[in-house]
Amino acid sequence: MRFRYGSPDVVEVRDVEKPTPSDDEVLIRVIAASVNRGDLDAIIGRPRFARLFMGLRAPSSPKLGIDVAGVVESVGPGVTRFKPGDEVFGDGFKFGMCAFAEYVAVRESVLETIPAGLSMEEAATLPHSAVLALQGLRHRNGRTFGPGARVLIDGASGSVGPFAVQIAKSMGAEVTGTCRTEKVEFVRSLGADHVIDYTKVDYTRAGERYDWIVDTDSHHSILSVRRALAPNGTYVTLGGWDSAIFAGMLLGPLISRFSDRWTGLMLWWKPFHRPDVATLKELIAAGNVKPAIDRRFSLSDVAEALRYVDEGRARGKVVITM
Ligand SMILES: NC(=O)c1ccc[n+]([C@@H]2O[C@H](COP(=O)([O-])OP(=O)(O)OC[C@H]3O[C@@H](n4cnc5c(N)ncnc54)[C@H](OP(=O)(O)O)[C@@H]3O)[C@@H](O)[C@H]2O)c1
Repeated sequence: MRFRYGSPDVVEVRDVEKPTPSDDEVLIRVIAASVNRGDLDAIIGRPRFARLFMGLRAPSSPKLGIDVAGVVESVGPGVTRFKPGDEVFGDGFKFGMCAFAEYVAVRESVLETIPAGLSMEEAATLPHSAVLALQGLRHRNGRTFGPGARVLIDGASGSVGPFAVQIAKSMGAEVTGTCRTEKVEFVRSLGADHVIDYTKVDYTRAGERYDWIVDTDSHHSILSVRRALAPNGTYVTLGGWDSAIFAGMLLGPLISRFSDRWTGLMLWWKPFHRPDVATLKELIAAGNVKPAIDRRFSLSDVAEALRYVDEGRARGKVVITM
């Protein structure tokens, strides 16, 4: 929980009452959760304009945690898809973050059954990051790239990036990932064909051209990434600070109208969209996508886990175990 905006230092673990599921809610005994940049955004209040919705001076809700995996403990009277004992996972972003807890009550619509062969910890890494990765690799209208396309994942070593690398590879792309020096081998191990150490090379100035670029957390200006886009190429940024988001929302689409290249913010995110979850299950079953878990922290150490991710130390996902 946290009661003011700030660094992960403002996060504390408190005893609260076990929630009771209302009509369409499912009470889950949480086995694992995972850390996302979205949790850190909520802690710091980023982007700043989002505080209009999150709470102007302080967060309107103290709860934290987007990704959840666990066992159904009980269900509300209106629940039709799940029963006690079912193993479920989901993305609680839309309905209030609350996954960093021993028990959570969430609407059944944000949950899916965990596929066979996937551990609770692995399942907890998927809902937010893997769906963002999948949706960042296609336009709102479904347009995407074909086999042989040159795809760059800027920020390939965090939460979304490793999924994006693996999904793009499964689509037949030639994939380049960027990361800091210490994580080059990690990104290569995900299957990336090329890895750029962003501390040494600025890909927008390296002379290469890409058909599709996913920027996991806005590391370059919209104007500079255009240099690295091939004709008819696409640059999708997922997030960042206010200026990057406004540029992605307004400037990118505006200049795209006068160009054969598309640049902009992903505004078509559908959290834990059921058809996308089905696609991810298939990719996992086929062995094309495997969650990369860096470290596990216990719930009592959740602030340390958040700090670990915030400081850029994580290679892939960080899991919170109860
Ligand atoms: N559009 C939407 O609807 C929507 C919805 C939800 C969330 N989001 C956004 O989705 C994003 C998810 O990001 P994430 O969870 O993957 O973040 P993350 O885990 O923090 O990963 C950040 C990545 O950026 C890299 N990076 C850091 N500084 C860099 C630099 N200067 N140049 C190049 N790369 C750099 C990191 O590399 P190293 O670790 O190697 O330094 C890492 O690979 C967030 O921005 C979130 O706000 C968007």
